[in-house]
Amino acid sequence: MKYDVILLGSINMDVVVDVPKYPEYGDTVFCNSIKMIPGGKGANQAVTVGRLGKQVAMVGAVGQDSAGDQLIKNLEKQHVDTEHVLRIEQEGTGTFVATIDQTGENTMMGTKGANDAITTADIEKVFSDIEAEILLVQMETSRESILAAMKIAKERGMFVILDPAPADGIFEEAFSYADLVLPNNQETERITGVKVIDQATALQAAGKIHELGIPNVIVKMGADGSLVYQEGETTFVEALQVNAVDTIGAGDCFAGAVACEFLNTNDLVAAAKFASIASGIKVSRTGGHDSIPTLEEVKARQ
Ligand code: RIB
Repeated sequence: MKYDVILLGSINMDVVVDVPKYPEYGDTVFCNSIKMIPGGKGANQAVTVGRLGKQVAMVGAVGQDSAGDQLIKNLEKQHVDTEHVLRIEQEGTGTFVATIDQTGENTMMGTKGANDAITTADIEKVFSDIEAEILLVQMETSRESILAAMKIAKERGMFVILDPAPADGIFEEAFSYADLVLPNNQETERITGVKVIDQATALQAAGKIHELGIPNVIVKMGADGSLVYQEGETTFVEALQVNAVDTIGAGDCFAGAVACEFLNTNDLVAAAKFASIASGIKVSRTGGHDSIPTLEEVKARQ
């Protein structure tokens, strides 16, 4: 079966804690709300691709639990093909606790659970059934699944996008199979040692990432825009000016949108502009997958 994008990635249940102010270490505080919301970097990216009108196959894993049932149903509702989502008996569904404060900024911690149980054999089986133009992958599933998918995609001549997120999951071996990486500030610092504080430091970091053998780089600086390094040329792309209320999954929305617009234009600057609008709209509203914009909503802001 042929898709636009194969999306290997995490599928998690997020426990989103909305606090007026982050507690000090050792404090106990009351919060505004606690909600269970479908998440996972992979699932967030897959839903973005689906809502932006492209055919997407989700490759991932959940446990044999009620969270797993709910997450698969949710993906189907969002027009994501879940035929290649595995159910793992021995592991629970990945779960993240995400705190968000009045600035919209978030902090997360979680377990990989079933995401970490995907094997090389699983990936080889899936890829014998499906094909696509683009592989989009992050670093929250097992190391062997990431490497196997990237290697096969590369051999097939697919365009391989690696979102090196989260910083805690980064391993360098994956870089050799990527056509594009799009790190945020924390991930960029983890990869290069350069703290990104402005366009000059973003450019310095992009150069260092390119020296690792990766042809294309987009350094995501959140509200400060993004820096695109494509075929030796750099372009700064402004962020959409919005009032940010919820940044959870903003980077995932950006990555999914880059994949979609790159399919249309074959140009990463156009893709980053489109993705800045999509992720800007996303952070301006609360909620999980339903806050990811549709194609019509992004086009209306272009
Ligand atoms: O990028 C946000 C996502 O990171 C959350 O949905 C959480 O599940 C983690 O994967």
